[in-house]
Amino acid sequence: MTRQPDLVRGATITGTGMYVPERVLTNRDLERMVETSDEWIRERTGIAERRIGAPGQASSDLALIASQRALEAAGLEAGEIDQIILATTTPDRILPSCACTLQAKLGAKRAAAYDVFAACTGFIYGMGIARGVIGTGLADNVLLVGVEMLSRIVDYGDRNTCVLFGDGAGAAVIRPCAPGDGILSVTIHSDGVLGDLLEVPAGGSLQPASEQTVREHGHFIKMRGRELFKVAVRGMEESLRTALDDAGLTPESLDLVIPHQANQRIIDATRERLGVPAEKVILNIERYGNTSSASIPISLDEVVRAGRLKPGDNVGFVAFGGGATWGATVSRWTMPAPVAAKVVAAPGAVAAAHGAGS
Ligand SMILES: CC(C)(COP(=O)(O)OP(=O)(O)OC[C@H]1O[C@@H](n2cnc3c(N)ncnc32)[C@H](O)[C@@H]1OP(=O)(O)O)[C@@H](O)C(=O)NCCC(=O)NCCS
Repeated sequence: MTRQPDLVRGATITGTGMYVPERVLTNRDLERMVETSDEWIRERTGIAERRIGAPGQASSDLALIASQRALEAAGLEAGEIDQIILATTTPDRILPSCACTLQAKLGAKRAAAYDVFAACTGFIYGMGIARGVIGTGLADNVLLVGVEMLSRIVDYGDRNTCVLFGDGAGAAVIRPCAPGDGILSVTIHSDGVLGDLLEVPAGGSLQPASEQTVREHGHFIKMRGRELFKVAVRGMEESLRTALDDAGLTPESLDLVIPHQANQRIIDATRERLGVPAEKVILNIERYGNTSSASIPISLDEVVRAGRLKPGDNVGFVAFGGGATWGATVSRWTMPAPVAAKVVAAPGAVAAAHGAGS
């Protein structure tokens, strides 16, 4: 679905934050768990290590730290948030929503809070929703979060999936801005016919939890990787082209592309089709693996804290995920340089940017 609403005001990112758990699971660790090798994983995916949440840690705990960092960067109090939009595939519980749990932990008393289930494309969907609610005046201050604890739904006996996924959270504060600045375009798509390429078969209304579903590992991710690979490259290329068209821009006018970190080969193939030089495309999959809806906001926060974005830069975000869902958005960056510089200088900011997980 692509449509450019006639918005009265624009919406822009005014602060970012991220958090990843401390525990690192390396390819060498995985070699001891399944029949795989560090060489195979690096060559086929670009991943060297990923983060794994501690026992007792839940998605809302990761989201809380990322959100607090984003609010601090934006200079916003939790009590000022109008809406919390939380993208996840791994909420703490099915009920209540993870967004409501985060609301309680933040003390964001006046916020309306809800989850978005769009798998790895969740953050892009969330940017579209945030732009809509801000543009129409329904909200001024939106906290958008992407968080995953995929380690909780990964079968560490299945080498097809366990090498890929990791845990983490990223957040962004989105606020009104002048029309023509900030989020310029959003394009989002789905194709439910492709639903079984990536699924968790049990635990919902179709196959409620039972001894049998546990025995059959039905609560873990099942993936048809090769088929996903092809549709991911096509979907990411097409949606970023559409978002650029809608914004009146071309691939050459992009200063930075922040793609969902699913597989380095998917990112490289998409980049080559678009003709964007490698140095403009953010890659951190080596350190975090695929963190689904968290991968784009984690990457964004690292980029912001490293001072790689300045006002006026054109930034493309693009993702593909289970559902199938895919989409892209193009933003004209507005966070003033002094804010970015202050954030970089803040104690602990550099450690956070390098995934120290504190
Ligand atoms: C999963 C993925 C890395 C596999 O890479 P691939 O090059 O497509 O590899 P294939 O699936 O063709 O498998 C090649 C061989 O490696 C084997 N293999 C699979 N996982 C392996 C692992 N961890 N270690 C070693 N060998 C492995 C396969 O069994 C297969 O062996 P076979 O030829 O004897 O059958 C790749 O398809 C991918 O990234 N797909 C997209 C996944 C994705 O992005 N999912 C999330 C959506 S956002």
